Amino acid sequence: MLNVEHLTLAVVDPDTGEETEILRGNSFSLRQGEALGLVGESGSGKSMTLKCLLGIEPGGARVGGSIELDGTDLLAARGEQLRRIRANDLALIAQNPHGALNPVLRVERFLVEGMADARGIPKAAAKARAADLLRQVGITDTERVLGSYPHQLSGGMLQRVVIAGAMSGEPKLLLADEPTTALDVTTQAEVVAILDEKRRQHGLSMIFVTHDLDLAAAVCDRLAVMKDGAILEIGTPDDIRDRPKTEYTRALMAARPLLHPAGRAPVPANGTEAHE
Ligand SMILES: Nc1ncnc2c1ncn2[C@@H]1O[C@H](COP(=O)(O)OP(=O)(O)O)[C@@H](O)[C@H]1O
Ligand SMILES: [Mg+2]
Repeated sequence: MLNVEHLTLAVVDPDTGEETEILRGNSFSLRQGEALGLVGESGSGKSMTLKCLLGIEPGGARVGGSIELDGTDLLAARGEQLRRIRANDLALIAQNPHGALNPVLRVERFLVEGMADARGIPKAAAKARAADLLRQVGITDTERVLGSYPHQLSGGMLQRVVIAGAMSGEPKLLLADEPTTALDVTTQAEVVAILDEKRRQHGLSMIFVTHDLDLAAAVCDRLAVMKDGAILEIGTPDDIRDRPKTEYTRALMAARPLLHPAGRAPVPANGTEAHE
């Protein structure tokens, strides 16, 4: 359903005109219902890959290659067509759920407006569905949550709301960018379990971005290991764990669970041979 070929991204320094290559010609594909993990340390280009899919790369950046979603080239799509695809077919679940919600609107408005925008569902019908959506992500006190402003809810609760909102649009592809990194450990496990369950129930495809190899292996059908803007190898979790093709992947395995944005144990910088 998704076919990414030779994706490149370069940013240009407006002062010096100097160009930095951020993504180095990456190719990967995704089948309907499949979950692909993008794993790699901080700065390896995971989020930028998702931004290219969403068409929200930094201003002035040059994107090359092709991104085909069910036959539509997202890099060629512009304006209204791209807006429609983003609203209907893609849903982003980001690290910080606060960023997804307007702080001055109650949760109910967030859900209702999301459904009205993405699906054209009439507001009355959307309102009736909102509580049901929350129950589906394990929220029982729906009245309280629907009536709350984002700042009145915990991060874990809010991320459930974001997942409910994402599912309400019946997207084709979920893009989850470190969706649990900002949450405490117990909540992390709950939120991952909900995301996984919802995705499977709805047969959705997903790209799951994380620096946590074990988490990615638990949730994904295949993993793509990224380093310095390049995908080094793609394989099943068993391939990656038991038969790593690059020194870097081996080092990544050896370093876990120390691979962390705080960067306690940087993995050796050798082993950059590229594999598809
Ligand atoms: N707005 C931006 N402009 C230019 N470079 C950026 C911008 N955002 C991130 N980068 C650079 O792009 C590279 C990849 O970043 P990112 O995709 O956010 O990494 P990851 O999500 O894997 O931690 C990093 O070197 C980062 O410094
Ligand atoms: Mg990131």
